[in-house]
Amino acid sequence: MTSKTSMPNKFYITTPLYYVNASPHIGHSYTTIAADCLARRMRRLIGEDRVLLLTGTDEHGQKIQRAALAQGLSPKEFADLTSIQFKELWKTLNIAYNDFIRTTEERHTKTVQRVLEILFEKKQIYSAKYEGWYCAPCETFWMQTQLQDLVCPDCLRPLERINETNWFFKLSEHHDWLMEYIRGHEDFIRPVSRHEEVLRFLELNKLEDLCISRPFERLNWGIPLPFSPDHVTYVWFDALINYISAVGSFGPQGRYESKWWPADLHLIGKDILRQHAVYWPIMLHALDLALPKVIFAHGWWLINKDKMSKSRGNVVNPLDMVDKFGVDTYRYFLLRDVPFGLDGNFSEEAIIKRFNSDLANDLGNLLYRTLTMIEKYFDASLPQGVSITVKDGYINAIEEKLKKLAAAVGGITDCNFSLVLEEIWELINMANKYIEDTKPWNLYKENKHDELKEFILVLVEVLKETADQIYPFMPQTSLSIIEQLGKDKVKKGKPLFPRII
Ligand code: MSP
Repeated sequence: MTSKTSMPNKFYITTPLYYVNASPHIGHSYTTIAADCLARRMRRLIGEDRVLLLTGTDEHGQKIQRAALAQGLSPKEFADLTSIQFKELWKTLNIAYNDFIRTTEERHTKTVQRVLEILFEKKQIYSAKYEGWYCAPCETFWMQTQLQDLVCPDCLRPLERINETNWFFKLSEHHDWLMEYIRGHEDFIRPVSRHEEVLRFLELNKLEDLCISRPFERLNWGIPLPFSPDHVTYVWFDALINYISAVGSFGPQGRYESKWWPADLHLIGKDILRQHAVYWPIMLHALDLALPKVIFAHGWWLINKDKMSKSRGNVVNPLDMVDKFGVDTYRYFLLRDVPFGLDGNFSEEAIIKRFNSDLANDLGNLLYRTLTMIEKYFDASLPQGVSITVKDGYINAIEEKLKKLAAAVGGITDCNFSLVLEEIWELINMANKYIEDTKPWNLYKENKHDELKEFILVLVEVLKETADQIYPFMPQTSLSIIEQLGKDKVKKGKPLFPRII
C-alpha cells in the first residue's frame, strides 16, 4: 500500500457489513476501530474529502428472518432495532464513518437487481436442480464428501436435506483467472499468510458454481431475483455488492459509474476471507469492474483461547469495556496488544496491564510531569525565544526519532498498528528517561535557566508529535494533550490516565 507505492489521491475503505441477528460485540468493534484509525490517518494525509469510510449492516437472510420470528417482529422491524445499536456503538467509539449502508435500502436492492440482470444477460447465471445438505444458520450448502455426520462442519448444527431448483453463478469458469490474478498481485490479499491460504485453497480445490438463490417459499426475507420472482438472492451475493452500491450506480447501458471505486482497502476478519477473496473478485471480474486494491483479513479475538459465541455465553459487549476503561483505552488496547493479522486473547486483566504501563505510567506521566514543570518553573507559560543549541546524546536521539516518525507517512496504512504504536511509545519513553537523567530540579536550583528552557522545549516538541501521531488511534486523548499544552500558557487538567489499582 502507501508505504510501498505513492500516496493515493483518494482512499475508499470498507468494513464488513455486520449481521443484525445479534447485538454488536468486541469483534465487530475491532474491525471498525481499525478502519476508523486508517481513515483518520488518511484524512490528515490526503484531505478530509478524499477519504470515504463505509460501514453498515447486512440485513437479509435466514439468520435474521429466524431471529426476528423468535422475537415476534417482522424482519425489517427487527433489523431496524439492531442496526441502530451498531450506529449508536460507532458513535460511542468515536467512529467517523462517512456512510452507513443497510442492505435493505433501495440504493442497494436496486443495484443488486441490476447486477443480477447484467450477469444473467452475460450468461453468467443459470438455473439447475440442487439436491444436497444445507446448513440454515450458516446458509451454506455442503457436499456429501465434506461431511462426516449430518452436521454442519462449521457450526456443528444438524443439516437439512434440500431438493430444489436454484440459480447458480459460474464461479468455476473463473477459477484459473483468479489464481493467476492472485499470483500476480502479492499485495491483493494480506497479510501474506492469507494470500498463501487462498492460493492453496484454489490450487487444491476446483471451484464449484455458487448457488446464489433461495426459493421464496423457504426464505422470503431477501432481494427477489429479477428474472425469477420465486427466488430471493443468497445473502452473501447480496451483501458483497454493498461495496459498489454505496458509492455508485449502473447507468442505462450497464456501465458502473463511481468516483470512489475501486476500493483501496476491504478490511475484514479472517472468517470471511473466502467470500471476499474468491467470490467477490470473480463477481467483479464477471461484471468487468476493477478489483479492490487490497483485502486485509485480521485475526480473531478469543476469550480464554476460546471462540466468542452466544452459546458459550462469553460474548463481550464493547459498551461494558468503554464504561470501565474509557473509549481511547479500549481503542488503544485493541490496536496495540496484538499484531493485526494474528489472533489475540481478550481479557480485562490484559487491558488493565496495558493501561497502567503504557497509558498511565508512560504517556500520562510524561504529560503530567511536563506540565507540572512548566507551571512550577515558568509560571505555566510555554518558554519562548529559545532554540535548542546544546545537542547532547538525548536530544539527538529524540530528534532522530521525531524525524523518523514524521517521515513514516504511510505507516499505519500498512495496517501495522501495533508496530506504529510501539515506535511512538519508544519516543515517549526516551522523553521520560531524558527527564529522569537530566534532573531538571537541579537545573532549576542552579539557576540554569536557558538549559531548563531548552529541556522543556524538547519535551513539548515530543508531546506535540505524540499527540499528532496518536490522533488516529486515540482522537480524544490527542486533542486533550494539545488542549492542555495550550497556546502560550499550559492548561493542566486532571491526569489523563489515573492508574487502576
Ligand atoms: N454479514 C457478514 C459480512 C458481510 S460483508 C459484505 C458477516 N457479518 S458478521 O456480523 O458475522 O461480522 C463478521 C466480522 O466481524 C468479521 O469478519 C470480523 O470483521 C468481525 N468479527 C466477528 N467476530 C470477531 C472476533 N471474535 N474477533 C475479531 N473480529 C471478529 O460475516
